[in-house]
Amino acid sequence: MIRVVDLKKTYGSGAAAVTALAGVTLEIKTGEFVAVMGPSGSGKSTFLSLLGCLERPSGGAYYLDGRDVGSFDEEELAELRNRKFGFVFQSFNLLPRYDILRNVELPMIYAGLPRRERRERAAKLLEMVGLQHRLKHKPPELSGGEQQRVAIARALANDPQVVFADEPTGNLDTRSSHEIMGIFKEMHRSGRTIVLVTHEPDIARYAGRILYFRDGSLIREEAVEDEVH
Ligand SMILES: Nc1ncnc2c1ncn2[C@@H]1O[C@H](COP(=O)(O)OP(=O)(O)OP(=O)(O)O)[C@@H](O)[C@H]1O
Ligand SMILES: [Mg+2]
Repeated sequence: MIRVVDLKKTYGSGAAAVTALAGVTLEIKTGEFVAVMGPSGSGKSTFLSLLGCLERPSGGAYYLDGRDVGSFDEEELAELRNRKFGFVFQSFNLLPRYDILRNVELPMIYAGLPRRERRERAAKLLEMVGLQHRLKHKPPELSGGEQQRVAIARALANDPQVVFADEPTGNLDTRSSHEIMGIFKEMHRSGRTIVLVTHEPDIARYAGRILYFRDGSLIREEAVEDEVH
């Protein structure tokens, strides 16, 4: 379970200080699928990168399964990011010069998995997202939707408990967006916790709960009754 108490983030200092997150308190249960919405600049990405331990908060507390993440050193945070978390971004962030099999293998290299095992697992994950026939292709040879499917396979490489996604459908057409959301639904069904930032109301309805941010604060939340299956 994720629990944050008065979580804050300020960038810069003095007159140039920007409050990106003004103190957010909430819980996300294990296995929950939560969407985060709100206007541009409302702190959604900041919130996600604090939960994903990509950045440290300026204030407040973060408990993950009861453990105080604020007390973790850099090594423990890196371990958390590599083993427990998976990340998917709007811009895919794939390595263009490596084939997609290699792209999906990379997190498993960092995790120290033997070569044969990681090859097999990467191929299996790429098959799961429907790209088994493209293993030797490089990201620039694929469509946006296909590249995002590679990024999802990569995010799942080390079998994460939590998947953080920041506008994963932001660069995709409607059809690819819903295909990608189908894969997120699958991830959720397999027991993973998902936190997904989106601008699009019909994408947010794949989640069970929507959090609305404004000016760095959580202003409202909504249980989705008729979530998309
Ligand atoms: N590294 C940074 N340095 C300075 N200010 C930052 C930094 N990152 C974010 N901000 C500021 O913090 C505020 C929140 O930004 P954030 O990226 O979290 O918003 P967002 O809700 O994700 O917006 P968008 O929908 O446009 O992606 C904004 O005012 C932004 O300019
Ligand atoms: Mg953002």
